[in-house]
Amino acid sequence: PRRGTAAPVPPARPGEAVADAAGTDPATPARPGEAFANVPDTDPATPEGRRWAREVVARDVAPAPGAVVAGAAADVDALVERARGAADAWASTDPSVRATALRAVARALEEARTDLVAVMVHEAGKTVAEADPEVSEAVDFARYYAERAQELADGHVPGARFRPRGVTVVTPPWNFPVAIPVGSVLAALAAGSPVLVKPAPATPLCARVAMAAVRAGLDAVGAPADVLTVVLCPEGDVGRRLVTHPAVARVLLTGSIETARAFASWREDLDVLAETSGKNALVITPSADVDLAVADLVRSAFGHAGQKCSAASLAILVGSAGTDERLRHQLADAVSSLRVGHGQDLGTVMGPVVEPAQGKLLRALTTLDPGEEWLVAPRQVDTAGRLWTPGVKHGVAPGSWFHRTECFGPVLGIMRARDLEEAIAWQNAVAFGLTGGLHSLDEAEIATWLERVEVGNAYVNRHTTGAVVRRQPFGGWKASVVGPGAKAGGPHYVAQLGDWSDAPDVP
Ligand code: ALA
Repeated sequence: PRRGTAAPVPPARPGEAVADAAGTDPATPARPGEAFANVPDTDPATPEGRRWAREVVARDVAPAPGAVVAGAAADVDALVERARGAADAWASTDPSVRATALRAVARALEEARTDLVAVMVHEAGKTVAEADPEVSEAVDFARYYAERAQELADGHVPGARFRPRGVTVVTPPWNFPVAIPVGSVLAALAAGSPVLVKPAPATPLCARVAMAAVRAGLDAVGAPADVLTVVLCPEGDVGRRLVTHPAVARVLLTGSIETARAFASWREDLDVLAETSGKNALVITPSADVDLAVADLVRSAFGHAGQKCSAASLAILVGSAGTDERLRHQLADAVSSLRVGHGQDLGTVMGPVVEPAQGKLLRALTTLDPGEEWLVAPRQVDTAGRLWTPGVKHGVAPGSWFHRTECFGPVLGIMRARDLEEAIAWQNAVAFGLTGGLHSLDEAEIATWLERVEVGNAYVNRHTTGAVVRRQPFGGWKASVVGPGAKAGGPHYVAQLGDWSDAPDVP
């Protein structure tokens, strides 16, 4: 079960549909006052969980049907026009019907859990332990956004009228190849807009299996076929046409800051909502529980080989050489003992990077700047450059390249600050503001840090990755976000995807 998640639901048995908090069929519309509860992950400590993990890695992965290949810009034009043709019917569908569709999606995703985890292990290089919570998150998105759609049906905001925005393009990343496309697509569908989703080029199978579950939910309510289109197209002119087509009302991007800038440069009036990059630090003060801090740091920095926008790539140690030395020892031991391999090997703790290390990541793995030394030197394990043992460098200087640059891989840098003030200043001295962590058992330190840290998701005495729908809505600040910035998995995400106006006076 996810840490910090109080889920009053029975443990899931793999392959079995999970009842919602009230024990009812997830396809049943929400009742007012019904409490949302996160679905549990599979428990790997049980014999059944271990049997299931073996079944996952042995499973054949086949492409799900239902994707469309667009080889030319004219193909894209035709698909966008068809989506536009479905827009009015979907916009005028009662939002409670859209909510019912999303609950059916939740059930279909849960039924597809084994396939979804298998395809993430196979295609995205995830371990079972990293992939399984991603299915839970996708199910949570479906059930939580169903509630938000139901609120639109109930006229949640008195005196205001909600209008769907229209054709929406979703461009998800490869690092969360199920949860992020599912969350973005379902939010737009819940808000009454037809969606074209373009899977990340590295993970089309993951998106296709996930979108088959979304399709099943839409079919359950008789939604028009063209409200969801999975578009497989090349990145160049064809992909650009999809994003810039004049009938596209909005783009939901999760990706790098460079991609967000490219999109904006392609079309001046492009309405893009983006969650972009991060350069995230975890501050550890002398009052911290060192054992907990090390465990959370290792998980935050090296989960999915550090390929998360939310990953901690800096540890800023405050003061006290004694704590510092103990922490460094424990960290070096913990990092050196992480078993590196492919996800199909169930003993693997850290999997590969999705593409052979290049550019910023390769520099981070192979270069030390002035003042830096390896606490744990990374090592390339395969010939392809995808498998690396994790690296930790200390002596990272404020303002240096590694301090400021997102490298998206298994390298952690350590900085040593005089006091908490200095640590916060360094944590904030980057362009991004996505996640941040503090390990401290001192109430005054916690209050100071929470007051000053410039991040969207601030975590105290917890790892910095793995935001949980509703409990920790996810989103950034500063250069980590483009657009109004309501957080994914939070109360306003769906509502920000449409337009609000005053409701006409009723005589
Ligand atoms: N939502 C993802 C996380 O919190 C990115 O790690």
